[in-house]
Amino acid sequence: MKSFHHFLATAASFLCVLSLPSCKSGAGDTIKVGEFASLTGKEATFGTSSHEGTLLAVEQLNAAGGVIGKKLELITEDDQTKAGEPANAVGKLISKDGVVAILGEVASSRSLEAAPICQENKIPMISPASTNPTVTQKGDYIFRVCFNDIFQGGALANFASGTLKAKKVAVLTDVKSDYSKGLAKNFKEKFTASGGQVGVELDFNGGDKDFKGQLTAIKSDAPDAIFLPGYYNDVALICIQAKQLGLNIPIFGGDGWESESLLTIGKDAVEGHYFSTHCAPDQGTPEMKNFIEAYKKRFNGKTPDAMAVLGYDSAMVLADAIKRANTTESAALRSAIAATKDFAGASGTITLNADRDAVKALVFIQIKDGKFTYSTTVNP
Ligand code: PHE
Repeated sequence: MKSFHHFLATAASFLCVLSLPSCKSGAGDTIKVGEFASLTGKEATFGTSSHEGTLLAVEQLNAAGGVIGKKLELITEDDQTKAGEPANAVGKLISKDGVVAILGEVASSRSLEAAPICQENKIPMISPASTNPTVTQKGDYIFRVCFNDIFQGGALANFASGTLKAKKVAVLTDVKSDYSKGLAKNFKEKFTASGGQVGVELDFNGGDKDFKGQLTAIKSDAPDAIFLPGYYNDVALICIQAKQLGLNIPIFGGDGWESESLLTIGKDAVEGHYFSTHCAPDQGTPEMKNFIEAYKKRFNGKTPDAMAVLGYDSAMVLADAIKRANTTESAALRSAIAATKDFAGASGTITLNADRDAVKALVFIQIKDGKFTYSTTVNP
């Protein structure tokens, strides 16, 4: 199918050149944008959401005539939530498809795997949602449209002492995830610097099913709260087992908690707990409201989550940079992305700083009556 299509496009442009000197090539004349996402596997909701947001942006841009006179062509690779796959995916997007830029990933470990390849090939990469500080440190072609975990870890530390009034906090880290390890580190530094005490510190491996050992140790240490910088699927199981063990203290974490699956798996065991994330739909700007409406219409009434909004913004920021650069040439496009300032994104206003990170507010959500409920905003 693919090679047949390619043959047709080649034949068409060949005929075009032969017959009409001024004729512009048609179907092949697109701007190719690559995307890699976990569409299947353990964190499939992350990739599915970010992909849907990205796709919606591309469809809207194309419906409005495209960018610098060309339609965008989104080429998406599924990395299956598996280590090793992000490298394959971006390698293929760059060398086989010839994309001008790459959007992805949500999870920091997978962005960290792909970033050096994009950097080496001088293909700009924009992560929608990877918050680990080291992601954009991979080089000057690597960007993100979200805040990083130095900011998020600090906000969580202030939340623990300020809102939860916690003096001693236990920390439970997923050692398989760069996101979890980084956020734990940034939280602990800030929390102890402001006089808080870190109680027991325990590890798990994302995908584990039994957390009773760690939770029993936490229970005997008697902390005021548990900091759990994990992803929703593990978080839900941990909250269920904490409840079974009678651990009735607040459990809180970061943006990795955000998925509807947290509620469907965790049910009443996640009730009352808190997490920080990128935006709260009910606190929306007009851009956010337009996005939610368009997303619901496009995806059968589904409510978008943070990854969807950020996936959308990653594509919109790229399109805006292509317009300003008026070219897709790599160095010029890189500079234009780096110059992103006061861009009215659906997730908020996006300005990229000298570290290529977005400087943005964060929100706290509490799970109340089985729903994600907006609690507070923390400005940078
Ligand atoms: N920030 C997480 C990471 O870096 C990914 C994530 C973003 C998860 C937004 C959920 C929501 O791995």
